Amino acid sequence: MIALPWSDASDDQLDIKRSETILNRDHEGLESVKERILEYLAVRQMTNSLRGPILCLDGPPGVGKTSLARSIAESLGRTFVRISLGGVRDESEIRGHRRTYVGAMPGRIIQGMKKAGKVNPVFLLDEIDKMSNDFRGDPSAAMLEVLDPEQNSTFSDHYIEEPYDLSNVLFIATSNDLGSIPGPLRDRMEVISIPGYTEIEKQAIAKNHLIPKQLKEHGLTKSQVRINDEAIKNIVRYYTREAGVRGLEREIARICRRAAKQIVTGEKKSVTVSAKTLETLLGKKKHSYGQAEKKNQIGVATGLAYTTVGGDTLQIEVSLSPGKGKLILTGKLGDVMKESAQTALSYVRSKAEEFKIDPEFHEKSDIHIHVPEGAVPKDGPSAGVTIATALVSSLTKRPIRREVGMTGEITLRGRVLPIGGVKEKSLSAHRAGLTTIILPEANERDIEDIPESVRSELTFKLVSDAEEVLAIALEEASE
Ligand SMILES: Nc1ncnc2c1ncn2[C@@H]1O[C@H](COP(=O)(O)OP(=O)(O)OP(=O)(O)O)[C@@H](O)[C@H]1O
Ligand SMILES: [Mg+2]
Repeated sequence: MIALPWSDASDDQLDIKRSETILNRDHEGLESVKERILEYLAVRQMTNSLRGPILCLDGPPGVGKTSLARSIAESLGRTFVRISLGGVRDESEIRGHRRTYVGAMPGRIIQGMKKAGKVNPVFLLDEIDKMSNDFRGDPSAAMLEVLDPEQNSTFSDHYIEEPYDLSNVLFIATSNDLGSIPGPLRDRMEVISIPGYTEIEKQAIAKNHLIPKQLKEHGLTKSQVRINDEAIKNIVRYYTREAGVRGLEREIARICRRAAKQIVTGEKKSVTVSAKTLETLLGKKKHSYGQAEKKNQIGVATGLAYTTVGGDTLQIEVSLSPGKGKLILTGKLGDVMKESAQTALSYVRSKAEEFKIDPEFHEKSDIHIHVPEGAVPKDGPSAGVTIATALVSSLTKRPIRREVGMTGEITLRGRVLPIGGVKEKSLSAHRAGLTTIILPEANERDIEDIPESVRSELTFKLVSDAEEVLAIALEEASE
């Protein structure tokens, strides 16, 4: 029998003040997230039990989901275990194999409990959204049993045969994409969303957390390696492009490694990193900041996209060539995005006369729509207005204002429908140096979720019809 904890429990320290101190010590910002975690723990303290809905921390990579869970464990004085559910397709990975099976093993839950060594760990179920199912059974059904407080005191693993009590475990799940969690599972969870950081937040995280942490890991002291504020800002701008801070942490680690080498070889006594010396340590800039085009272009519109790694800007290019009306779509577009390109084209055709476009254009030219970067898969309906704008621009030769970013689904009649991820999209637009954002009218209330420091530097234009989009985004026609 494997060595499982059957009764050994850590003493709970349900003390909200202490939890607050630990959460604040390890995490910069995230005020509303921490607040919700504390409320959750407060309810547990009041009811004197950790039963209740499962917490699910949802957000793009590197925003601190795992690290928040770790802090929760520490603040409760419990041990911490983590299993990854990414790629789990088979019920037996959760519930184990019968021992008659060659190479039988207990499932991941029981393995996690063995690692924890206590009956009441904080148990992190990482990437719960990446579970899938196939013919070998649905792992999410087994997960339902794990997470259900009514059933999990007698969890059955095929390998250990006896029912095992999971009711003292505090489960916390993480996901990148809530939409792919099966409904019944999602209903069991209290979701806390972490949207991604602004540039200013990233700088503060680097300064107060990532740099001290990496210095320590590399055995360096504050006086040996100094990274000034300007340098931090440039690392964020030119060496990372992400919603979270994982890449930022990696670049800081790189600086520490190089500095450590210079110090050990006696080349230098201490290293001061400024904006000027950054390139000598990190090499050439990897990204351009303020990606906005240098001048207004014909046939290139900037869309705002929302992916599981956060928001991003997306250039949509349209070019026309003599031909017979073929529509060519490239750039790894998903089915929904392809359909939305067709919808945008049909809309533009139906309005050709109004837009002063040759009504026969689609019979005389091939239309090529490309969305770089070509290797990254893209999907979703929210590029509709962007495609329509790029199309009209290239057909009328009216340039598109370079400071404008846009997002919205389009219908055949040109109505603009609401989209998701407004906050993330706005952060990325700001990152890219755009100043005017076109949003569907129905998304108006999402604007208040955008952090003030970013909101105040953007002008939002709410639209309900594609013609309004064109009026804002296109330069006047030169008669
Ligand atoms: N607000 C913050 N304050 C301080 N450090 C942070 C903050 N957010 C993230 N970090 C640090 O960034 C790193 C990445 O965070 P973490 O591993 O928790 O991300 P994650 O959200 O779990 O990502 P993934 O989805 O890829 O698992 C960690 O070193 C973490 O401590
Ligand atoms: Mg993680």
